[in-house]
Amino acid sequence: MALKIPYSYVPFLSLLLIHILLFQTLLNNHLAVADDSTKAKDYTPPPAKTPSPPDDDEAPPPPSDKFESKRIEMVYPVIQRLKKKIKYDPKGIIKTWNGADICGKYKGFKCAKHPVYKVDAVSGVQFNGFNFDGDDLGLDGFLDEMPDVSIFHVNSNNFTDGIPKKISTLKYLYELDLSNNKFGGKFPYEVIKATNLTFLDLRYNGYSGVVPPEVFTLDLDVLFINNNKFRQTLPETLFTLPALYITLANNKLTGPIPSKTGKASKTLAEILFLNNQLSGCLPSEIGLLKKLMVFDVNRNLLRGEIPYSFGCLTRMEILNFGKNQFYGAVPDSICSLPSLKNFTVSFNYFTEVGPACMELIKKGYLDVKKNCILGLPNQRSKEKCDAFARKPKSCPNPQNYPLDWMPCREISSSMDRRKTRELEAKPAALPFSYKSLHPHGR
Ligand SMILES: *[C@@H]1O[C@H](CO)[C@@H](O)[C@H](O)[C@H]1NC(C)=O
Ligand SMILES: *[C@@H]1O[C@H](CO)[C@@H](O)[C@H](O)[C@H]1NC(C)=O
Ligand SMILES: *[C@@H]1O[C@H](CO)[C@@H](O)[C@H](O)[C@H]1NC(C)=O
Repeated sequence: MALKIPYSYVPFLSLLLIHILLFQTLLNNHLAVADDSTKAKDYTPPPAKTPSPPDDDEAPPPPSDKFESKRIEMVYPVIQRLKKKIKYDPKGIIKTWNGADICGKYKGFKCAKHPVYKVDAVSGVQFNGFNFDGDDLGLDGFLDEMPDVSIFHVNSNNFTDGIPKKISTLKYLYELDLSNNKFGGKFPYEVIKATNLTFLDLRYNGYSGVVPPEVFTLDLDVLFINNNKFRQTLPETLFTLPALYITLANNKLTGPIPSKTGKASKTLAEILFLNNQLSGCLPSEIGLLKKLMVFDVNRNLLRGEIPYSFGCLTRMEILNFGKNQFYGAVPDSICSLPSLKNFTVSFNYFTEVGPACMELIKKGYLDVKKNCILGLPNQRSKEKCDAFARKPKSCPNPQNYPLDWMPCREISSSMDRRKTRELEAKPAALPFSYKSLHPHGR
């Protein structure tokens, strides 16, 4: 995948993305990675700028020569304005927001050298978990007045209202995390214009309505919009998003999973659809998303048989089809996937498993409870299974390929076994996106 960081303005961000790619298990606190080593110490005066207006009823701002740079001085009144609006600050953060040494003393702000002016500038806002609240605590006049910000993370606060229209003027904004706040109403259309975003996290808010299809044309690596109230069918463009991680879980999404695949086939590692109202059959084209490691459609209204093409997803580790209305055989090609270590098909109407799947059941990697598989324990009652078998079956969404279509060459079984052994020697990697299902998570 192409990483979209134009230049070395944000070394900590590049580091972060390398972490995402290579060390998924280390991501717990990646949102606090900005470190002071990126702080420039050599101050050279920037081009002259009009001074910022003084702040009315605060103590007079420190004299200009106390600030490390004009870029820092510029945001001083912006921060002081926000400070006045914050009425609840359980961690005692804002009492550090005093004086001119923003880079050194202010909790929640990070600095880096500006790519153009070559002086220190405020590049990061890291308010995760600060629990700020206040009357009408919005981002207008704050986010949009931080012209050099590249990372803006405010997970778990009580920010509300919209996103400032001027967000599109923030040239360096790559990461926007507004998760677990009190944003609501329609999807914030303003972010579509922030075309340099690579990380968009809006989960755990009160957004409703639809996610505009343009979002899926952005160049995002991460899109987290789980735990909102989005109510819509999935856009046909879903898999044209070149993202690594997409979480759509716990919304009110309906209709089928789109069959059209695009850039996601080269990038998508994890996608969570769980707990929505998706319906129709799974399209065989999912088998083209060859980087997939996590695919979770647990608790939806999906039906039909599982396409054999899932057996092409050789990196798959966690696959969850639980609590839908799938039936037929669990394709044995899936159970032979070399990295698969958590496969859930429980609470469906499957009737058959093959030898590779039996192996996984024995290892405790495959959960088949509450299906209709003869001879296995803990299945549905014969009455329920017979009643389901009598129902007419068809896919409401058109299928472009027969069920047994395999877009990959067979992996030889010896290769298969060798890989399996290698994998068993490694510690289990923790998937990244599941952490997004906790409000403070990651
Ligand atoms: C933030 O909002 C939540 C949800 O409305 C509320 O329960 C919580 O008390 C608020 N926090 C403060 C500090 O008021
Ligand atoms: C994206 O970044 C480039 C390079 O810094 C900049 O020229 C461009 O204006 C930015 N785009 C937006 C919409 O901010
Ligand atoms: C598999 O994942 C489910 C949740 O999707 C979890 O409850 C279960 O413990 C996991 N099983 C194994 C063997 O890791």
